[in-house]
Amino acid sequence: EKAEDFTVDDKLIDRIFKPRKDFSHKGTYGKVTIAGGSYGKIGAAVLATKSALKVGAGLTFTLAPACGYEILQISCPEAMFIESGTRFIENFKSEDHTVYGIGPGLGTHGETEKGLLDFLKEYTHPVVLDADALNILSKDSKNLKLIPQQSVITPHPKEFERLFGSTENSFERLALAREKAAEFNVYIVLKDHHTQIVTPEGNVFYNVTGNAGLAKGGSGDILTGILTSLIAQGYTQEEACILGVWIHGRAADLAAEKCSKESMLPTDVINEFGAVFEELT
Ligand code: APR
Ligand code: MG
Repeated sequence: EKAEDFTVDDKLIDRIFKPRKDFSHKGTYGKVTIAGGSYGKIGAAVLATKSALKVGAGLTFTLAPACGYEILQISCPEAMFIESGTRFIENFKSEDHTVYGIGPGLGTHGETEKGLLDFLKEYTHPVVLDADALNILSKDSKNLKLIPQQSVITPHPKEFERLFGSTENSFERLALAREKAAEFNVYIVLKDHHTQIVTPEGNVFYNVTGNAGLAKGGSGDILTGILTSLIAQGYTQEEACILGVWIHGRAADLAAEKCSKESMLPTDVINEFGAVFEELT
């Protein structure tokens, strides 16, 4: 079949969105584990964790180094903390049936790199990979084969270039993304002013929500939380990417109306998720 291009519109979002069921419990809405944070970047793990919680996952864990323990327990009391130990990702397998979102604030320390690569050598379920997880994979092109099939990767343009090489313009970048999404059987969320979601089949979904108020550290971290949370709740990777990027941008648009593109922070965006879900329901 021929690959197609789509603009994400309200009709598509309405088709994807599944309202919460009355007869349900936390097990219905899945488990998320955000693996990230390192000394000086625990905030990235906090933002991703809060975001996963506020999008509705049943149970949310944060896997982070000991220096993040108090920060995370205080800033995200609804989440559980798992200490990552000396080798960052050695405790990865301790939680079953969890969807992993890996990378926000992770750092690229040698021990972390080894931990992540060892984990990916064994782990076969789809994961969400962002930020420093992508930077670690970029160090050696052989690493790319370790990405579990059907995973979601969320590079910004610089991270995309580190992963797959440079291109002349955004058209060439999109063509390369189509090629790589097929080659590695992954969903690529090409983050930009208009974020593009590229599927392994080569289809492209153009998002139209969001604004320059998102051009601030931490905006990407909350997207990772959203996507991981939606997959944990049973959305397919394609649905999670389309709906998740749309929610992220729509919440940003509501935050900008309230407190301006200049002043809005990723935390303000998280605090608009509720209003976005009210529009959807
Ligand atoms: N218009 C619309 N959306 C935007 C705009 C804009 N002008 N600028 C940014 N965004 C959106 C992007 O589409 C993306 O969803 O904000 C998000 C930014 O994500 P990242 O670039 O990953 O930014 P950040 O959260 O700062 O990343 C934190 O991780 O990826 C690393 O190098 C990055 O150190 C940084 C850290
Ligand atoms: Mg980022």
